Amino acid sequence: MQISEHTRIAVIGSGTMGAGIAQLAASAGHPVQLYDISPAATARGLESIARSLQGRVDKGRLTPEAYQATLGRLHAADQLTDLADADIVIEAAAEKLEVKQQLFRALAEICAPQTLLTTNTSSISVTAIASGIAHPGRIAGLHFFNPAPVMKLVEVVKGLDSDSQTIESLCQLAGRWGKTAVRCQSTPGFIVNRVARPYYAEAWRALEEQVAPAAVIDAALRDGARFPMGPLELTDLIGQDVNFAVTCSVFNAFWQERRFLPSLVQQELVLAGKWGRKSQQGVYRWPRQHDELPVVRALPQEAAASLQRQGGPGMWLNGMARLTAHLSQSDLVADVPFLELDEVLVMATNGESAQQLARRYNRPVVVLDLADDYVNTPLVVMAAAATNRPDQTAKAIHFFQQQDKQVLLVADYPGLLAWRTVAMLVNEALDAVQKGVASADDIDVAMRLGVNYPHGPLAWGESLGWQRVLTVLENLQKHYGEERYRPSSLLRERALMEKHYEQ
Ligand code: 3HC
Repeated sequence: MQISEHTRIAVIGSGTMGAGIAQLAASAGHPVQLYDISPAATARGLESIARSLQGRVDKGRLTPEAYQATLGRLHAADQLTDLADADIVIEAAAEKLEVKQQLFRALAEICAPQTLLTTNTSSISVTAIASGIAHPGRIAGLHFFNPAPVMKLVEVVKGLDSDSQTIESLCQLAGRWGKTAVRCQSTPGFIVNRVARPYYAEAWRALEEQVAPAAVIDAALRDGARFPMGPLELTDLIGQDVNFAVTCSVFNAFWQERRFLPSLVQQELVLAGKWGRKSQQGVYRWPRQHDELPVVRALPQEAAASLQRQGGPGMWLNGMARLTAHLSQSDLVADVPFLELDEVLVMATNGESAQQLARRYNRPVVVLDLADDYVNTPLVVMAAAATNRPDQTAKAIHFFQQQDKQVLLVADYPGLLAWRTVAMLVNEALDAVQKGVASADDIDVAMRLGVNYPHGPLAWGESLGWQRVLTVLENLQKHYGEERYRPSSLLRERALMEKHYEQ
């Protein structure tokens, strides 16, 4: 199919995603029909589009003429049969297989055989949706990310019967709409909703284990590791109901694979109707108040210590070296980055607790969480061994405060907040590569553009060091005795290769 502005688009479902997609299509110049089960729901969808476009006018991003022209291209469809002339249908209705199958069966009768029938499903099998429908070659997944007008990615999902021309036409459509398309197979969660599961799961676990309040967990990932939003505030944006449903769907589709286990805390929010921004209450109350983070207040000069040595590999050390200048390196703790402040050993977490490390080295230990850039990070998250004296932990806190960093001291939690999350993201991305979900490049592009991660997880794993990622996961697996942290076999292979080339 040749895509142009004359290509007629129909969107089914006028919720957050449906309305966002219809807005995108109309902004790209297409005639658009919006359909929902009740005309009142369709009207609400059109109103929310008008509000969103008005916001663009108010910001001076859209002229009043363009606003009128865009709204003029949007039409409510009262019945499904009104979609008979559509060239491309994008379904963004309820995330239930029966609902989608029923819709696709009806659409196959109503629309011409060449009409492309697509689904914005987050995690339901495209193959299952297309099953038993006439001309299944024109059925595929077209998965957008919230907020659809803003996020740059579209996953074009190939079901078992999707034609390659269908996939090419949809990639062309995404390009016309200013999006980057990645191709992937119809596997549970596709790329982003599979690889991103640990981003949410590790945050729920930290909340369940009472490691830190929600705002601290979010700050560690957002301000420390430089994700665009913390995991818990992001679930409030996505909707607790939607995010929980995706997790359950991926968990069940993988035959109850334990690493995708849904969270009981999140289930409670869903059951209580606390769905996030759209219901003004989720993990947080919305509109959100500014959270005062419990950062450690500035310590006096008495806490100062002298820097004895530093060591360790890679990115961390480069950042630290720029902070600390001209210190001799040492192989005291082999491949884990560290600093010595008098007798205190300050180390990047390796997936063990500070207390375990204090016992091994028989000295006070402070462990640091992952920061994307230790020179520029505004926030350093750390944990101290329980056997440290307060003045010993204070030496590490003071050191970073002197570099104009805010310091958050959290419970002594193996792998801390960001490091264990990133290790799990890297691991999941490798698993997806190994299972042929998509190419390695497309997986990295998908995570950078679909959820705006600061790095693709594969590039991130490489720069952190595969062996370090493996060590963190192995230590977490030992700590919990759980299958959840099992390293992917591809990670083991890469760590071996890395060692090989180091020699
Ligand atoms: N709707 C429309 N436009 C929005 C918006 C929304 N909800 N939120 C922000 N924007 C627009 C703003 O108007 C602004 O436009 P402008 O540049 O023309 O002024 C632009 O986006 C940037 O917004 P902000 O200035 O508020 O900038 P931020 O830097 O805070 O970015 C963000 C906002 C893009 C939402 C960023 O926080 C982010 O990337 N968050 C992560 C979002 C994410 O991961 N989404 C995917 C969720 S998973 C999913 O959808 C899959 C599904 O299957 C569940």
